Amino acid sequence: MQIPTHIAVIMDGNGRWAKQRGLPRSDGHRAGTEAARAVVTHCRELGVRFLTLYTFSKENWSRPKDEIGTLFDLLTTFLKREEKSLKEQGIRLNILGEIDAMPLAVRQVLRHVMRQTAQCEDMTLNLALSYSGRDEIVRAARALVAKGVPPEAVTEEAFAAELWTAGQPDPDLIIRTSGELRLSNYLLFQCAYAELHFTDIYWPDFTPAELDKAIKDLNSRQRRFGKTGEQLDHA
Ligand code: IPE
Ligand code: IPE
Ligand code: MG
Repeated sequence: MQIPTHIAVIMDGNGRWAKQRGLPRSDGHRAGTEAARAVVTHCRELGVRFLTLYTFSKENWSRPKDEIGTLFDLLTTFLKREEKSLKEQGIRLNILGEIDAMPLAVRQVLRHVMRQTAQCEDMTLNLALSYSGRDEIVRAARALVAKGVPPEAVTEEAFAAELWTAGQPDPDLIIRTSGELRLSNYLLFQCAYAELHFTDIYWPDFTPAELDKAIKDLNSRQRRFGKTGEQLDHA
């Protein structure tokens, strides 16, 4: 089975998972953090080079303050607890999104763990935080203008180099849990030829075995990139 180089996940359904069990949403987020930890380790073991987790969207700022607080508490606890393990596993932490939009305590932990794992080379873990795909695109355009890049030099490559994912390959596979069939402003530039995998499972129930299913599903597809099936069969 061919292992995708870059997997991106929209970890959705924590709230509904909790509701189904008569629990507060915070319990859903806690369980979701555990699911994320298992998926990170599994991807590393499989040899996935880039794993991108949609952790908090720019639009998520409109949630109740206490829920946002819970999410950031869980994130900082997770990072503090996993710092050593990430390093041992050779996993480099990288953030897609505006770190400065984060509360100070979160920023400090993020910067610390990024520094600690900066030399890790086995896998890059991108956490999309305060992330918006459109915002990322607009920022890239602004950066090119600010540099005085002439119009003819505004190429797809020059543009991609200004995104948070600069230097990384585009995702091969985007997984969304919880049954929603949308991208919710995720990796809009980078998703051009990603294969999409949707599952009804709520994120806290998403196990490494479910990830294997998604990869197997991907392997059964033919990625044509605009060519005909016959062209690829003869290549
Ligand atoms: C995903 O679960 C976590 C975040 C968006 C931060 P949700 O909190 O969106 O769960 P549902 O969609 O309400 O079930
Ligand atoms: C997308 O989930 C963002 C994350 C998983 C962090 P949402 O639950 O915020 O998406 P919508 O609002 O249902 O599209
Ligand atoms: Mg949701």
